Amino acid sequence: MSQVEIPGRVKQKIDIVTPLPGPMSAALQSLSEDYEPATFAHGQVPFGFRRGSGVFVEDVDGNTFLDFTSGVLVANIGHGRKRVMDKVAQMARDQEITNSYNYLNPYRPALARLLMETIPDYCADLKTGKAFILTTGSETVEWSMSMALRHQWKTGHPEKNRVVAFEGAFHGRTAGARHAGGIDGVTEGYGLDVPDITHIPFPDLYRPAKHADGRPYTLQDYIAGIQKIDGASTAAVIFETYQGAAGSRMFPAEYLQALAAWCRRNGVLLIVDEGQASFGRTGRFYAFEHYEIQPDLLCLGKGISGSVPLAAVISRRDIVASQGGMSSTWGGNILSSAVALETIKILIEEKLTENAAKVGAYMARRFKALEGRHAILGETRQMGLVGGLEIVTDRASKTPNPKAAERIVTGCYRKGLLLIEPIGLGGNVIRVAPPLVVTEEQAEVGIDILDRAMAEAEG
Ligand SMILES: Cc1ncc(COP(=O)(O)O)c(C=O)c1O
Repeated sequence: MSQVEIPGRVKQKIDIVTPLPGPMSAALQSLSEDYEPATFAHGQVPFGFRRGSGVFVEDVDGNTFLDFTSGVLVANIGHGRKRVMDKVAQMARDQEITNSYNYLNPYRPALARLLMETIPDYCADLKTGKAFILTTGSETVEWSMSMALRHQWKTGHPEKNRVVAFEGAFHGRTAGARHAGGIDGVTEGYGLDVPDITHIPFPDLYRPAKHADGRPYTLQDYIAGIQKIDGASTAAVIFETYQGAAGSRMFPAEYLQALAAWCRRNGVLLIVDEGQASFGRTGRFYAFEHYEIQPDLLCLGKGISGSVPLAAVISRRDIVASQGGMSSTWGGNILSSAVALETIKILIEEKLTENAAKVGAYMARRFKALEGRHAILGETRQMGLVGGLEIVTDRASKTPNPKAAERIVTGCYRKGLLLIEPIGLGGNVIRVAPPLVVTEEQAEVGIDILDRAMAEAEG
């Protein structure tokens, strides 16, 4: 495929210059359909990524979109940051791009130290721990569960040999991570749990579970459910701080606090999977800080490095000491570590967490106002700069309306706002997650487009 010329810089406004999809994006889409698995990019709007700057992304046809996806929650510092691009250019120029996990590079231990410095002081046990630098979120989930099981075994509790996870969870697609997830479509047909994983209900107060007599579960009912878990055989509980793939579902604070207290009482390790929730995304540097809980193991990914692959497990020091060999070929690759270092420094120096809290509060207010205007908008959930818009047939029945959600995403694309295909267990939740550099004015442009697309979808 020939490439279109790249003129100047990425525009800092929406600018659609071809019919959509443009010819290059359409050609890429059909190339992908021929040669890639169906769930990689298919089912999404046909957007061929060329480059990005801040909250704007340009496709291979030269159209500029406002990005409410952050490249699926990775570009927390914004796209195409000059400081990062300059660092990569310098490393390429100086022939620094090499790889060997067996030897040190100047960036990986420095990144581990910086990560430990970002852990809040109130988490004393975690803060004095260690950072294990890896490559993908699934890998962090595999490792955190393995580390928890090994620690229980090593410290005289071999009977604590299973993990508890949540219905509706998504923790990745490698064997253990897949089965830790609680979404049928992700686990069906993939064999036995590795390791032994038991799922408990997510405390959903929007569509609560029902008692045998039809009464809906209350928060107290869900909390009572925690007490019924068999602590004696449980090594660890793993959860996402908010459930991402299930539709940006937020845990009630009281529930997570009760879960953390139960874990402490029963010698069960708390694994917090913040594969997508950290690095300022929710208006706190780590999302678990909203709940004042203390993870024993913390899984990190996505926004940690923005544009190159890197992930990490932060662990209590004694849990690390219980392990055997810990390494991975690409873990802490020199390029990824250098980019992650720059990324985290930018997040801190530019106070992007604070911006996420401020602009997120503005977006939450605007979305709440839309609830009153659109009958298909069942509920809006927002924490900092991650949100979910529940699209339903009507507010009373709360029946998921994936077709309308799909129409909204496509309508937004046609107007220059980039969203990913609807998420959620009913395929009906629109995920809103702009880069953390977004301004209120830019957020307003996107919300106005969403408002118009919703009105059109209602017909
Ligand atoms: C919470 C969470 N954990 C784990 C993963 C898996 O990460 P990866 O796709 O990098 O393996 C994801 C990916 O979306 C995630 O959101």
